[in-house]
Amino acid sequence: MAENVLDLIIIGGGPGGYLAAERAGHAGLSVTLFEKAELGGVCLNEGCIPSKTFLYSGKVFEHANNGKAFGVSADNAGIDQKAVVKRKNKVVKTNVLGVKGKMKANNVTVISAEARLAGRSGSNFKIVAEDKDYEAKNVILATGSHAIVPPIKGVKEGLESGFVLSNKEILDLETIPEKLVVIGGGVIGLEMASYFLTVGSQVTVVEMLDHIAGDIDKEVGDLLQKTYAGKGMKFFLNSQVTAVEDGQVKFELDGKAEAVPADKVLLSVGRRPSIQDLGLESLGIYTEQGHIVTDDRGRTNVPGIYAVGDVNGRWMLAHAAYREAEVAVKTILGQKDNVRYNAMPSVIYTNPEVASVGLTEEECKDRGIEYKKVSIPMSYSGRFVAETDRERSLCKIIVDTAHDRLIGCHLLGSYASELIISAGIMIETEMTIDEIREAIFPHPTVAEVIREAVFMLD
Ligand code: NAI
Repeated sequence: MAENVLDLIIIGGGPGGYLAAERAGHAGLSVTLFEKAELGGVCLNEGCIPSKTFLYSGKVFEHANNGKAFGVSADNAGIDQKAVVKRKNKVVKTNVLGVKGKMKANNVTVISAEARLAGRSGSNFKIVAEDKDYEAKNVILATGSHAIVPPIKGVKEGLESGFVLSNKEILDLETIPEKLVVIGGGVIGLEMASYFLTVGSQVTVVEMLDHIAGDIDKEVGDLLQKTYAGKGMKFFLNSQVTAVEDGQVKFELDGKAEAVPADKVLLSVGRRPSIQDLGLESLGIYTEQGHIVTDDRGRTNVPGIYAVGDVNGRWMLAHAAYREAEVAVKTILGQKDNVRYNAMPSVIYTNPEVASVGLTEEECKDRGIEYKKVSIPMSYSGRFVAETDRERSLCKIIVDTAHDRLIGCHLLGSYASELIISAGIMIETEMTIDEIREAIFPHPTVAEVIREAVFMLD
C-alpha cells in the first residue's frame, strides 16, 4: 500500500506531460510526474527547440551571404559549427530550467525514474517506479515516441559507428559533413537537410514516396522541392534504401540499383509511439497499430487513464500534445472541453518555411467536398517584397463552397509559421469569408496575403 493517494500521476515529462503537470498543479491537484531521462522530452532536448537553434544559425549565415541584395556587405562570413552546437546546448539548458521552475511553482513533484502501470489498488491505480509503489486517482500517459530504426542492411552498425545519425546525434555534430545523405524526406529530414545545405554540405534526400514532406498540400510540397533543388539539394524519390555501407547509401530506383556517397547519413524515417514496458496490459488499455487509443478528450477505454501527445499516435506535434494535455486535465477537473483536430496547424521550419492548417486540396477531392481555391505568391504582401529577395512563395486558401468558410490554408514563405495561427483561428471558429473580409490586418505584414487571397475569391 502506498503512503498517500495522489490526484494525478503523469508518466513522461515532455510537452504533453509537463504541461499537464503545470495545469493540474495550478488547479490545486496533488501531482507527481515521472521522467526517466530529461524534463522537456524530445521536443526540448533533441527536437523542436535545438533544431530551431541550428536553423536560425543557418538563417543568419544565409542572410550574411546574401547581404549584397539588401545593400549589406558581410565579407568572409563563416560558420563555426562547434559554436552552433555550444549555443544549442545553452538554449536547451535554459528551456529545461524553465520547465523545472514551472514544476516547482505549481507544486509538482518530479521523480527521475522509469514508471509503469501495475494494475489497481481498490478504486485507485497503482504505479511502480524503482520498486516503490505509488497510487493515484488519475493517470496521464505522456511517454512520447522514438525514432524508427528500419531493418536496412548496415543501419545498426552505422548507428554504432557514428556514420548513421538520428535526429538526436545530428544535433551534436561539431563538424559539417561534406556529403550528407538524408534517408526520409519528411519533416525532420527536410529541416536538417535545409540547415546542412545552407552551411555548405552537399545534401541528397532519398525518399521512398513520390513526393517529399508527407501529406502537405501537393502544390506547396512541389514548390518546396523545386526551391531546394534550385539551391542545389539532390532528391531521389520513389527510392527504396537497400543498404548503408562502404560510405554509401544504396537504393533501388525503378528497379535499378543506385548509390550515393556519404560522409554522414541522417536516418529520419518516422517515429513510433513509446508504449512498451508501460504496463498497459495490467489495466487492459486498448492500443491500435502501436498507439494508445483515445477520444478527443484524451480518455482511454479505462476511465481515469488518459494518453496525450505522440503516444496516442494522433498528431506527432508538440502543440497537439499541449492542447491534449490541457483538455485531459480539464476533463479530470470535471470541466468540458475537447481538442478540435480539424484546425491543427503544422510547420516545417525550412527556409522558406512551410505552414499548413486544415484540409489540403487532395483531401477535399478524396472526401468529395466542393471547394474553391486561390493560390497567390506571398509577394502580394508589400512587407514580404521589402524583406525578401526573389524568394519563391505561395499562399493557398481553400474554401468550402457550400458554407463559404475557410477550410484550408497552406503557405510557403518567410513568416509562414507565425501567421498560420490566424488561419487556424478562422477555421476553428468557422468564420465565413465575409467575416474574414471584415477583419483588420495590420499593415504592412505578411499576414495580409491571406486577406488578399480572400478578396480574390469569386
Ligand atoms: P516523417 O513521417 O515526417 O517522414 C519520414 C519520411 O521517411 C516519410 O516521407 C517516409 O516516406 C520516408 N521513409 C520511410 N521509410 C523510408 C525508407 N526506408 N527509405 C526512404 N524513405 C523512407 O518522420 P520524421 O521526419 O522522422 O519526423 C518524425 C515526427 O516528428 C513527425 O511525425 C513530425 O510530425 C515530428 N516532427 C515535427 C516537426 C515540426 O513540427 N516542425 C519537426 C520535426 C519532427
